[in-house]
Amino acid sequence: MKINPNIPTPYYLVDETLLIKNLEIIKTIKERSGCKVLLAQKAFSMFHFYPLMAKYLDGTTASGLYEARLGHEHFGKETHVYAPAFKDADFKEILKYADHIVFNSVTQLMRFKDEALKHGKTIGIRVNPEISTQTHSMYDPCAPTSRMGTRLIDLDEAILPFISGIHFHTLCQQNADALEVTLKEVEKKFGKYLHQLKWINFGGGHHLARADYDLDLLVKLVKHFKETYDLEVYLEPGEGIVLNTGFFVSEVLDIVKNDMDIAILDTSATCHMPDVIEMPFTPPVVGMKDKGHHYRLAGYTCLTGDNIGEYHFEKPLEIGSKIIFEDMALYTMVKNNTFNGIPLPAIYARNLAGEDILIKSFDYLDFKKKLS
Ligand SMILES: Cc1ncc(COP(=O)(O)O)c(C=O)c1O
Repeated sequence: MKINPNIPTPYYLVDETLLIKNLEIIKTIKERSGCKVLLAQKAFSMFHFYPLMAKYLDGTTASGLYEARLGHEHFGKETHVYAPAFKDADFKEILKYADHIVFNSVTQLMRFKDEALKHGKTIGIRVNPEISTQTHSMYDPCAPTSRMGTRLIDLDEAILPFISGIHFHTLCQQNADALEVTLKEVEKKFGKYLHQLKWINFGGGHHLARADYDLDLLVKLVKHFKETYDLEVYLEPGEGIVLNTGFFVSEVLDIVKNDMDIAILDTSATCHMPDVIEMPFTPPVVGMKDKGHHYRLAGYTCLTGDNIGEYHFEKPLEIGSKIIFEDMALYTMVKNNTFNGIPLPAIYARNLAGEDILIKSFDYLDFKKKLS
């Protein structure tokens, strides 16, 4: 991985060649199975790439008003929206942008259905199939007491004349085997309603572009739903579309010692890659080794726990060494913040000619404007 040493760090860099590689995988899935694929903007909203992505995908899904507007204005095609609850004021505006609206509960559906149908929207309900296929409760919508989706026991059949589809989202970074387990439960619990519907949305969490992803099984599962119930099948992955397409380039500012070597970078886990702390996970770094010179890479905010992870390198790090984090397109730009008043990283795109083009840089006003 070569970088341009003249670009000031820190910055996110998304590589068009790698993105197209993933989009080609999605294209195959669509062609083989007949499903529709939406971009979950919550994971990746770098709208610079929306025109390219729109050549491969069927539209976007949004988690709220601004994502719905962004998808509608920059991506086009279908705009879906789901939120655990809608505010009256937001909903009125969402009607301008979304064409498919998914409600989380019977109460929300009944509250907004007339307005939605009057505006020609397609509406559905998110169901909770109550089958956990992972142990990480923070990312498991089927975990006990989860607020995500309507359980069978709470599904009031009075909504049936108004809906044309159901939605579920239960997976996180999973393979098609977990989807298969989920779909069995969906059929068992909600199968009786499927014949009268037009579409089903399998949510996100499908790690589609991962090398070991079982595409054959996915195709089989989609086809089964299409053929048995005559349904349009949607997938709405975020990660699975932009997996391994992005980098984050930073620089060592200082190296301090406290029983170990700690390299302080011109970035921050909590500000620029919050999932490192929330998820938590240790992002891969270009050139990392199993053994060698050992460092903790850490952020330059006041948060003691602003640590990115421990790594080994072949050569010792120095002040000014560049550190390139991998797989940084997803859940980074969409979640970053200016805690401590540190600047937001710039956003670059590597074009097909291998040139790194500045898409957006940020300054003091971006920090100031959201504070008062
Ligand atoms: C309803 C819904 N759809 C799609 C996604 C996208 O998930 P992922 O980025 O893991 O594919 C999420 C993620 O939280 C979600 O909640």
